[in-house]
Amino acid sequence: MSELQKTLQFSEAALQQAELIFQRYPADRRDSAVMPLLHLAQREFGGWLSQEALDYVAAFVGMPPIRVYEVATFYTMYNLKPVGKYHVQVCTNISCWLCASDDIVKALQEKLRLPLGGSSSDGRFTLTEVECLGACVNAPMMQINDDYYENLTPAQVSEIIDRLP
Ligand code: FES
Repeated sequence: MSELQKTLQFSEAALQQAELIFQRYPADRRDSAVMPLLHLAQREFGGWLSQEALDYVAAFVGMPPIRVYEVATFYTMYNLKPVGKYHVQVCTNISCWLCASDDIVKALQEKLRLPLGGSSSDGRFTLTEVECLGACVNAPMMQINDDYYENLTPAQVSEIIDRLP
């Protein structure tokens, strides 16, 4: 492991979680754990995955860094730049789009005063457009941090944002 990679380190609690994750996979398939480990690293290292964090996970799993980059850049659940305290992810995929996700996006942009992909200067919000989040049956929807908000209307969007502490 290089000097750079040594500056990031999983906490004791995260190491225990990582061990549990590895136990889900055959011992000779540690790299199968890369996705949950990236998720763990994202939580552990401030809500996003820096190059340093990606390299740390690669070394931790024993994979070439390029293979970790391939995974991390494919899925929208991995944040490759810092996000706000509240990461608002709005789905605009087919089911949500058919149920007027355009109106939800507009309501969010007006409420947060942010473009898609933008973050507020106070570090409170990041607004991201994402692909299907698997809640199509209750479209349109958005995710804020770990919580889903479904069957949304523009008025509800405003209320939900106002209720955030
Ligand atoms: S299309 Fe939006 S959750 Fe599936």
